[in-house]
Amino acid sequence: SSRVMLGPLVAAIDQGTSSTRFLVFNAKTAELLSHHQVEINQSFPKEGWVEEDPKEILQSVYECMERTCEKLTQLNVDISNIKAIGVTNQRETTLVWDKETGEALYNAIVWLDLRTQSTVEHPRQMCPRNNPNSLNTYFSAVKLRWLMDNVDEVAEAVLTHRAMFGTVDSWLIWCLTGGKSGGVHCTDVTNASRTMLFNIHTLDWDPELCKYFDIPMEILPKVRSSSEIYGLMKSGCLSGIPISGCLGDQSAALVGQMCFQEGQAKNTYGTGCFLLRNTGAKPVMSEHGLLTTVAYKLGRDKPACYALEGSVAIAGAVVRWLKDNLGIIQTSTELEKLAASVGTSYGCYFVPAFSGLYAPYWEPSARGIICGLTQFTNKSHLAFAALEAVCFQTREILDAMNQDSGIPLTQLQVDGGMTSNRLLMQLQADILCIPVVKPSMPETTALGAAMAAGAAEGVSVWSLRPEDLSEVTSEKFEPQINPEESEFRYARWKKAVQRAMNWET
Ligand code: G3P
Repeated sequence: SSRVMLGPLVAAIDQGTSSTRFLVFNAKTAELLSHHQVEINQSFPKEGWVEEDPKEILQSVYECMERTCEKLTQLNVDISNIKAIGVTNQRETTLVWDKETGEALYNAIVWLDLRTQSTVEHPRQMCPRNNPNSLNTYFSAVKLRWLMDNVDEVAEAVLTHRAMFGTVDSWLIWCLTGGKSGGVHCTDVTNASRTMLFNIHTLDWDPELCKYFDIPMEILPKVRSSSEIYGLMKSGCLSGIPISGCLGDQSAALVGQMCFQEGQAKNTYGTGCFLLRNTGAKPVMSEHGLLTTVAYKLGRDKPACYALEGSVAIAGAVVRWLKDNLGIIQTSTELEKLAASVGTSYGCYFVPAFSGLYAPYWEPSARGIICGLTQFTNKSHLAFAALEAVCFQTREILDAMNQDSGIPLTQLQVDGGMTSNRLLMQLQADILCIPVVKPSMPETTALGAAMAAGAAEGVSVWSLRPEDLSEVTSEKFEPQINPEESEFRYARWKKAVQRAMNWET
């Protein structure tokens, strides 16, 4: 049968907290041709601990890659048209491996993990050049410190100069480019800016922060831009293809949403929920509990672009919790039906502070709470309250963002797995009192990574010039309830949050 002629294709590895995907896009039209997804197991060895298996993460990438290539072959697409691969990933999640054996020395400590709560509570005030809120269990530095202090193999490997530290991007790129036989140990500026070891002004590791956390700089990966050739795939069906894009998933979504102008913003609903607003060439410090982060640097000689970020720890994770821990739904898609069957939480509020509260509160000791229950409350109301929780949390970070910038957003661009839930999208518009706009191709994070990979010097199959970017078709949800009703519910939510913050006292 005849081959389909398509021109250059670019692939993306999207390694998220809950699943791994591999996707292939047409570089000229941004069309998604094929993809494969595999769920990732999480383990919770102790209360508040969240781990993943580094080997499983790597295997899932190879599996998704092979399956996608098979699907493309079935579609008569020649996989030799794939010119580059981009990597995008769950951020902050921390790994240490041995460069001689190629083996990880402990499980990956996932960004949500709370084991360092007592560590961060003590020195919060003493950390150099950071506002007290920024020292949190969330970032990699404290997780790495924990590994060095508590895992003998890690301590030993550090002493004997065999240890390599990395976030998931570094682990994957090192393994995919050859691992112990010549793998490239690198990361990009966006992932580095989530470690708390990186100076976002000089765009390099910060000797003072490394000293503060007592981390030897030799174990850190080399920091590169988000779009350049890092190395070539060493094995598998795409052996020899350059890996030339690397961005933390939230940065990749910002790129995928084409938020290249200062003031543009997007909100991604994954395991957590992350609203990023492009602040252009200058890092802007928040006065309302947001983080300052590197948004992207699309080429070695290109300037870095910064963003303000509002991070919410639990969004899609609440759906998984209702499914796995309470068993009130069998599949994630059932949640929408269940919630829609009542159309109200009937006064029930659910603050899913499973990992403390992130922006704008930064309170690691907060815990989840469900309140407002009556004899009448049933699982449908709880399902509705869970969806509303995602919307209220977004409202809180949007408010903070508007206060920081002084220029309120007039609509919100959204993406991520949960945006297929139409009830959630409508609720979000109702609670924000502004329209919510979602692209019809939902894989925005992967698209951003593919764009970065395809645009890299030496690949150059994807043009990022504004006039060359393809039009994105989208769907808009307009607010349908009156603002008073919305404010009333939001005020109630805030009361529930106060209780989640102080539930022990
Ligand atoms: O900061 C954590 C974030 O990068 C995880 O994203 O999509 O897995 O919720 P996600």
